[in-house]
Amino acid sequence: MQIYKYKDYDAASNAAANLVIQEIIKKPNMILGLATGVSPIGLYQNLVKAYENDIISFKKIKTFNLDEYVGINNDHPQSYHYFMNHYLFDYVDILPENINIPATDKKNIEELAEEYNIKLFGNQRDLQILGIGKNGHIGFNEPGSQLGGQTYKVKLDEQTRKDNSRYFNSIDEVPKYAITMGIKNIMYSKKILLIALGESKAEAVYKMVHGIVSDDFPASILQLHPDITIIVDEAAASKLNMKSDHLVF
Ligand code: PGA
Repeated sequence: MQIYKYKDYDAASNAAANLVIQEIIKKPNMILGLATGVSPIGLYQNLVKAYENDIISFKKIKTFNLDEYVGINNDHPQSYHYFMNHYLFDYVDILPENINIPATDKKNIEELAEEYNIKLFGNQRDLQILGIGKNGHIGFNEPGSQLGGQTYKVKLDEQTRKDNSRYFNSIDEVPKYAITMGIKNIMYSKKILLIALGESKAEAVYKMVHGIVSDDFPASILQLHPDITIIVDEAAASKLNMKSDHLVF
C-alpha cells in the first residue's frame, strides 16, 4: 500500500486527479472504475478542468461505477446515475454507450446484477477509484460481505443508511437495497486509488491499513491488492502516525 498524505481536501483531490490524469495520458482508452460520495467530488472537478484545458479526453474511455441504489429512479437527485452526470459526465466528451452504472430499474434485480457482473469480468478495470465507509465498506460491501463476492443485491447496513440520510429528507427515504460490485470485482482491477478525507474516516483508514484482514471490515482486504494508492488528508491520516507524507505499508 502506497499512502500519500496531503494537507486538506483540495490538495488531496488535486493529487488524486493528477494520478488519474497520468493514467489516462498513458492509456487513453482505459477502463476506469468510478465511485460516488463526497470524497471523489474534488477529483472529478479537477478531471473536468483537465478536459477543458485539453489535457485529457474521455472519448475512448469506458467507465464502470461501483454501485447504485435500488428503489429510486435514475433521475432522482440522490441516484448515482444523477451524481455521475452532475459531477462528471455532463461536462466531458465521454460517449454515453461507454458509461456503465448498475441498472436497478427492472423488477428482477438479481438478473440485473448478474448482467453487470458478466460485463465486469469482460472489462477488467485499469484503475478503480474507491472511497471508504466509516464501517469499512467499499462500494456497498458492508461488514460481513463475502470477500470473494461478485456483483449482487445488497441490504444496506443501518450505519450506511444513517450516514447517507443527510442527503435525503429523512432516513425513511434512504433506500434499503443497492446493487454493488462485489469485493472480488473490486480486487479484479489492475490498480486501485482510494480516497479518504476528513476526521470521520481516521479510524477506518487505520483499520484498513493495520487491521486484520477480515470480512468484519471489508476494506482490510485491500492490503492484499498488489497495486493500491491511498490518498488521505491530515485529518483522515491522524491515527496512522505517519512520520512523513508518504508511507509504504
Ligand atoms: P463519502 O462516502 O465519500 O461520501 O464519505 C464514501 C463511501 O461511503 O464509500
